[in-house]
Amino acid sequence: MKKSSAKDLKDKYIEFFESKGHKQIESAPVVPENDPSVLFNTAGMQPLIPYLMGEIHPAGTRLVDYQKCIRTNDLEEVGDKTHHTFFEMLGNWSLGDYFKKEAISWSFEFLTKVLNIPVEKLAVTVFKGDEDLPRDEESLGIWKSLGIPEERIAFLGKEDNFWIAGETGPCGTDTEMFYFRSDDPVPEKYDPEDDRWVEIWNDVFMDHYKHEDGSFTELPKKNVDTGMGYERVVAVLENKDDNYLTSIWDTSREKLLEISGLPYEGNEKSMRIILDHIRTAVFISSDDAGIKPSNTDQGYILRRLIRRAIRHAKNLNIDINSNWTEEIALCFIEEYKKYYKELERNKDVVIEVLKDEKAKFNKTLEKGLKEFEKEIKRIDDNRINKDVAFRLYDTFGFPIELTVELAEEKELTVDTEGFKEKFKAHQELSRTASKGKFKGGLSGNSEIETKYHTATHLLNAALKEILGDHVHQKGSNITAERLRFDFSHPEKVSKEDLEKVENLVNEKIKEDLPVSFEVMDKEDAIKNGAEGMFLDRYDKEVKVYSIGDFSKEICGGPHVTHTGELGHFKIKKEEASSAGVRRIKAILE
Ligand code: ALA
Repeated sequence: MKKSSAKDLKDKYIEFFESKGHKQIESAPVVPENDPSVLFNTAGMQPLIPYLMGEIHPAGTRLVDYQKCIRTNDLEEVGDKTHHTFFEMLGNWSLGDYFKKEAISWSFEFLTKVLNIPVEKLAVTVFKGDEDLPRDEESLGIWKSLGIPEERIAFLGKEDNFWIAGETGPCGTDTEMFYFRSDDPVPEKYDPEDDRWVEIWNDVFMDHYKHEDGSFTELPKKNVDTGMGYERVVAVLENKDDNYLTSIWDTSREKLLEISGLPYEGNEKSMRIILDHIRTAVFISSDDAGIKPSNTDQGYILRRLIRRAIRHAKNLNIDINSNWTEEIALCFIEEYKKYYKELERNKDVVIEVLKDEKAKFNKTLEKGLKEFEKEIKRIDDNRINKDVAFRLYDTFGFPIELTVELAEEKELTVDTEGFKEKFKAHQELSRTASKGKFKGGLSGNSEIETKYHTATHLLNAALKEILGDHVHQKGSNITAERLRFDFSHPEKVSKEDLEKVENLVNEKIKEDLPVSFEVMDKEDAIKNGAEGMFLDRYDKEVKVYSIGDFSKEICGGPHVTHTGELGHFKIKKEEASSAGVRRIKAILE
């Protein structure tokens, strides 16, 4: 294989698909703008869901990009050679344009002709068929015609060759490509159990929609969604079996070696955790969404990442009060700013976030670790009880996952269920049942976020009443501090109108209107005049929330039971969001 390519893989990918008629689109923020069902974009397709479901994309029917992704379900696995919480996904899409033949042929051409990967080192999997969907004969035929021998093609079921982002949504069977990442002779037959074969690319044939009841219907168009893991392919091209030893990490790794004064060998686990977590923290805090460390949702993930990195820095005897986080963060900003402009733009914010969170945690970390050591000497059943876990959290700022990790290192367990009950009782935290939201951690809607959710419906209805029927929701984002609401409107909203909107919302709060919901047929909901965004379009049954007879919206909830609970509503800002879309930020006080 020709050496090279690794560093400019992104450019090559874009260039290649542009030559096949694709338009490059920008990476969406890591915090989704219009999809409250997930905390972060976990795949390149996530920001494209409306278009995979039939909306017309302004850039056309062939798209290509590199997308910033964050997956935190394996956060505790980070520390080995391959896991990352942040990664980049290279992807190309057909929105009802080409299908299997082109998608597979281009994947093959890119791997073998552009990256010069020998065919002998490749294997693929295709869907074997089941009671819902037939065996994918077409993909099999295409792979064979391209020169992949039958022994290198495995037929697997839905667990492997079917892709969906969460529980429901656009989905389809897929074909995955594997590379033999080892210097051993390549076995003739591909064995899916042999982990020397690493997955490098996935072509999903997204032509179905999965409903809540588990049934499938066909989407209006046959789409292609592909995803290639950037860090994995770079590791392949640079012939490294440890992703953290590729050139992606050169400057940050060198910086960490310098700061710690220690070699990589023997300290790999803590070093990988520090590098991965600081990089992800940089990408979360540089997003324009303005996420700050907190105890819920994205803010909680950010907190966990920074605090876990600090704990591991302590393992390496780094002076945790020095500016080591900032120095490492600056390496990442330098490394990635060419591709992600927000890193430079929000550089000061990133540094502030790291500095503040570090200062907060450093105050209690030492004492908390002492407390932990003291407690584990006392226990006699190898289990840390809920009171100790809660004290470590509440007094010393230890995320429960950190306590679990410390306990595991001593071969102890933690009563996490008991902890969560205690936590809930203390914080009155109502966890969201919303599907697809990351389980674990303490993610959920706090009471205040629930209030903002209801306030958003009031605002939507009030805008319609004051400005006119052309107003439709274009996006919404809620934190514990404020709501942000995007809506269609051609011009700046006048001060007078904003006042009218604000007054109307407050009037409706004073009236203490009941908030209720009904489950109804999608068609009926729309006939009844319920407002709703496209994401609900394909559900047969939808939840419609009514606020008195002032507002009616398709929505998953949760909401308060009476508007009187909301307090006073205040609009803080009105500005342009994009062409024809305005943005309001408002608070409850
Ligand atoms: N959406 C597909 C994946 O993430 C391409 O693997």
